[in-house]
This record gives sequence, structure tokens and C-alpha cells, in this order.
Amino acid sequence: MAFALAVKSEPKHSFRMLVRRLSLAIWPLLFSVAIITIALTASALAADKVELSVDLSQPGPTISRYIFGQFAEHLGHGIYDGIWVGPDSKIPNTRGIRNDVVAALKAIKVPDIRWPGGCFADDYHWRDGVGPKRTVTLNSNWGGVTEPNSFGTHEFMDFIGQIGSEAYVSINLGSGTVKEAADWLGYMTAPLPTTLAQERAANGHPAPFKVGFLGIGNESWDCGGNMTPDYYVDQLKDYSHFVRNFNPDQQGQQPMLKIAVGPGGGGPEWTAWTEAVMKAYQHHHWSWDINGLSMHNYTVVNWDRKFASTGFGEAEYARILKATLGMEDLIRTHSAIMDAYDPQRKVTLVVDEWGGWYAPLPGSNPGFLAQQNSQRDAILAALNLNIFARHADRVRMANIAQMINVLQAMIITDKEKMVLTPTYHVFKMYVPFQDATFVPVTFDAGTYKNGDITLPRVDAIAAKDASGKLWLEITNLDPNQAVEIDAGFAGITAKSAAGETLTAPKVDSVNTFEAPNTVLPKPISAEVQDGKLILQLEPMSVTVVAVEQ
Ligand code: AHR
Repeated sequence: MAFALAVKSEPKHSFRMLVRRLSLAIWPLLFSVAIITIALTASALAADKVELSVDLSQPGPTISRYIFGQFAEHLGHGIYDGIWVGPDSKIPNTRGIRNDVVAALKAIKVPDIRWPGGCFADDYHWRDGVGPKRTVTLNSNWGGVTEPNSFGTHEFMDFIGQIGSEAYVSINLGSGTVKEAADWLGYMTAPLPTTLAQERAANGHPAPFKVGFLGIGNESWDCGGNMTPDYYVDQLKDYSHFVRNFNPDQQGQQPMLKIAVGPGGGGPEWTAWTEAVMKAYQHHHWSWDINGLSMHNYTVVNWDRKFASTGFGEAEYARILKATLGMEDLIRTHSAIMDAYDPQRKVTLVVDEWGGWYAPLPGSNPGFLAQQNSQRDAILAALNLNIFARHADRVRMANIAQMINVLQAMIITDKEKMVLTPTYHVFKMYVPFQDATFVPVTFDAGTYKNGDITLPRVDAIAAKDASGKLWLEITNLDPNQAVEIDAGFAGITAKSAAGETLTAPKVDSVNTFEAPNTVLPKPISAEVQDGKLILQLEPMSVTVVAVEQ
């Protein structure tokens, strides 16, 4: 019995001892873990401070609303399914154009849409897309699929009319002729009674269409014809002269602006291209003119092994943001050349293809350039828009690639379903900056580091709208660290601020048809303390506030 007791009690005793010993050893360990956890959480929440000053006494140029332009090419589901479903579709539509997409685009006040390409434009023959009987062709640039041409000139004009936008039409300088392009403009813009205008009327539109912008070729150094700069300049002179806009409303105050093909990078071959076009422009003969020089710049780290648009971590987040900030240097490089030939800055640098270009979604046709759109893209969009705004005196137009279902899209659709991307929300938050006056902001951006990548922690712009209201945008690039902005204002007494902030649980958070609100703007406000507006910004966030005076 005693033995039994002893035997029974010994383990009890040992167990208690063991627990006691373990407790003694574990408590300090648990305590340390708790301290570390609190410290880590606190460091993520504890905001680093950034002093920012806004100087309203030195207003800058107008931030043109056209830097918020879009691009819609006949590529993948960019047009078909994305915009055009046809009048007989069960998807609610107006004359074949999706109502849900129109409503969403109206809300972001799209100033202009570049159409029909891209590479597609230099293969596009406009007659295939007008009249009751459309020609069926092949889209040799993008997936080799059938192009029904159901969405042609009239449908495009109807679409931009429905969303209240303007037409930026790219003419075919690659496989077309000067006459074909001249006829297209004659068809679109001549008043009655020319034969082309009568044909337009017979096809349902007696009044001339307005064509706000004319792209004279697309990437003529590549898919648009592999031309040398000098050969292109000769072509440009012809097309600029003969492709006329006859719309009576566009002869005076609102002429059609002509945009020449420009560079696609920053190296010597690209600067030579800009030199060639701008040199020709400097002493151009009366018979031709340009108002813009296009520039294309996609954010890609490695063209051969493109990053994925979902399922990535902080390292790829940081590398993409570093790459996208290269836009600044590119604009500086080409602006400097343009300044030499056009010191009055009459010619706009038109960044009419920009955005993140990632690997095609698994299972998709690689020629459709389908990709998801994450919080990383929201930050990318804000950084580029801010760069354009800081160069507002030269960059007066830009078109993100592309509007729906292609590359860095605003909208993703699948049959009757539609979802708005994080990039869409950024464009909506930036609406107050359209045609607002740039206001200088100075700040010490600090640094955000990941591995060997060092980036500014914050970016910011400010602008005053037509009603006199001051708007402030601040991007916090750091995905781990909140930031406290202490903003001071010269020229006004700020009382408070309110607006919206866009952040997400993860760097690769996306909106899907099943979970459309994962990345959604939420309200934010700020109060004045000791004369400074104090704004607490979450990690990896885009914030736009109106400052109350
Ligand atoms: O936006 C996709 C393609 O990228 C365009 O068609 C072309 O201009 C560019 O190379």
C-alpha cells in the first residue's frame, strides 16, 4: 500500500515539480514573447512622423484632367465583353454597351479614351467597322482571334458619349495609307453634304463626330512599322498635313490635337527618336504641326520573366515600386530634349501607355494580357499620377493601359459580373485633382527598405480646385509602418481635413467577383493640433483629403 502510495504519489510529486520547474522557465519566456509581440505591433502601429509643408503662395500649373485618360484596345476582353455585349445580350446594355461599365466609368470622369490601339491600330481598317454589314477579320496582334468589327467608329463614339468622355483616335500609319486615314477623318468629321458625311448619316449619325485627339501612328519603331526616326518624321509630315478634321466646332477654340509617336524608353535610341521629332517640329513648315509627343513606359522588372499579379510578397512589391518610380527620370530625360526645341512647352509629353505589366493569368490566352490588380497597383497608380502632376507644365495628357480586362485595368468583367479594381478606386479618389492648380508641397520623404531596395517612405501632392478648395494626396509606400503626417500650411489657416484612404490587408490583396470589397476606400479625417494638421496614415495606403480652412 505504502509502496503503492509511494508509487502513486511519486509521479504526482514529480509532475507538480516538473510543472513548477517548467513554469519558472516558461514565464520569463512567455513574458519576453509578449514584450516582443507588443513591441512589434507597436512599431507597426506607432507612426513615424513626416513634416510636410504646403505653400499656397506659389501656385503652379494646372494639372490637366487629361492625365487621367484611359486606353481601350481591341485586345483580349478589353472591348468585347468589357464594353460591347451587343444589343441582344441579357447583360443590361444601351445599344450594345454595358450599363454597369458605363456607370462605373462616369463616376471617375474619364476625360478621353485612346482607341482602337495600340498595335491593333496599325492593322485597323476603319471601313471594316462601319455600316450594316461588318467585315470579320483576324486580330493578328493579340491572340489571333476573330475580330467581328461589331464595335467600330459609331459604337466607340456612342460609348464615349454615354460616359461623357472625348475621342483619342489612333490612325493606321503602319499598314494603312494617308488617303485611308484622311477618309476616316472625313467620314467622322465632315459636315453634310460630302459623300463621306452622307454615308455617316446613312449609318445613323448625321452630325459630325468630335475627334479631340489624333494619334499619328503607334510605336512606329516596333509593332507600328519598325521605322527609323527619319522615316517616321517624313510619314508624320504627310499624315499631319492631309488627315484633316472638318468638324465646324473644332476649327476655332477646340481644335483636334495631333500626337506624334515618341519614345518607349530612356536609352540613346529613344533620345534619338525624341530629338528627331522635336528637331523637325522646331522649324516646321506651315503645312504640318504636332501638339503632342507620345511616350510609352510600362512597369516591368524583367520582360522575359514577368512578375505575377497575385500571390506575391513584399520583395516583389518593393521591386515593382522601385521600377515604377523610373517614370520620373524618363520624363525628365525627354522633357529636357523637348525644352531645347520647344522652350515654350507647346508640345505636350503624352504618356499614353503606362501601368504595371505582369504575367498572364494562369489558364488565360497569353495574347489577352489578362492580369489581376492589387493594392500594389493602387500605390503604383498614385506614384505615377503624382509624377505627372509634378510635371504638369509638360505632361498634360496620359492614358493608363488599359481600361477594362487588360493589363492595369480599372474594371474586370466576366460575362454579367463586374468588379472594380484598386486602381479604379485611386482614379476615383483623384477626381478632385482634374484641372486643379498644382500647389507645391515639401517634405522629407524618409525611407522604406526591403532587402537591397530603398524607396521613399511617403509621396505627396497638393492642388487647389476651381472652387478654391485645397486637396492633399499622400501615399505611404511602407507596407509595415504607419506614418503620422504633420502638415503645415503657408497662406491659409487649416482647421481640419476629411477624405478617403485606400489600404488593404496584404500587398497582393485584390478585389474579386466573390469578394469585391477587399480593397475599398474608407473615410479618414484629421484635426489641427498646435497649428499642424495631424493625419495618421495606415501602411501601404493612398489618401486624399480636402482641407477645411
Ligand atoms: O498595351 C498593349 C500594347 O503595348 C500596345 O498595343 C502597344 O502599343 C504596346 O506595346
